[in-house]
Amino acid sequence: MKVSYHGHSVVGVETDSHKILIDPFINGNEACDLDPGTVETDVILLTHGHNDHVGDTEEIAKRNDALVVAPNELANYLGGKGLNTHPMHIGGAREFDFGKVKFTQAFHGSSYTEEDGTIIYTGMPGGILLTIDGKTIYHVGDTGLFSDLKLIGEMNDIDIAFVPIGDNFTMGPEDALIAADWINAKTVVPVHYNTFPVIKQDADDFASKVKTGKGLAMKIGDSAEL
Ligand code: NI
Ligand code: MN
Repeated sequence: MKVSYHGHSVVGVETDSHKILIDPFINGNEACDLDPGTVETDVILLTHGHNDHVGDTEEIAKRNDALVVAPNELANYLGGKGLNTHPMHIGGAREFDFGKVKFTQAFHGSSYTEEDGTIIYTGMPGGILLTIDGKTIYHVGDTGLFSDLKLIGEMNDIDIAFVPIGDNFTMGPEDALIAADWINAKTVVPVHYNTFPVIKQDADDFASKVKTGKGLAMKIGDSAEL
């Protein structure tokens, strides 16, 4: 399968049978190589309700008739907008036709801000373990460092992990290096940096310092074979 990076926390997964997008924030993610008006997907996985993660979900999901899998409160909210949703929550796993999804914890917030400024509460934020054809992808979500990452690393044979390094809203590079050691993935890809001035980071420097597994600073539009 092919795993691709599209800036911020946007990750694509393409198997023989399915296309999956995680946190498809395209408008506002200036360097993103995707177009919400043309991108194809069968499934959208969302870690939490912040606008820089929900992003263009509504447009993409409606045009593709895609299934949106999200934490319960966020799934309910998006279901109210007419999207086809499946609610899950932290600690829960489910086998779908495209693969297995398990939600992990994340220490962060989760709300969606409407265009008129109304803030909608969208439950707890999470991370996502996605297992397809024996390969496991861990999208850590937005979070600070927490020691259960070690447990997650011990319990799962993680092939590729997408770890936030931006600092300010999430882990910064120093904590993300500790996270990378604990997650113990074969490949560690930094995400959630450079989109805004406040999260500017040197991803190549981070990748070069990863000790456990291989650090890989994917360029926007890059993909890796799993
Ligand atoms: Ni967030
Ligand atoms: Mn974020």
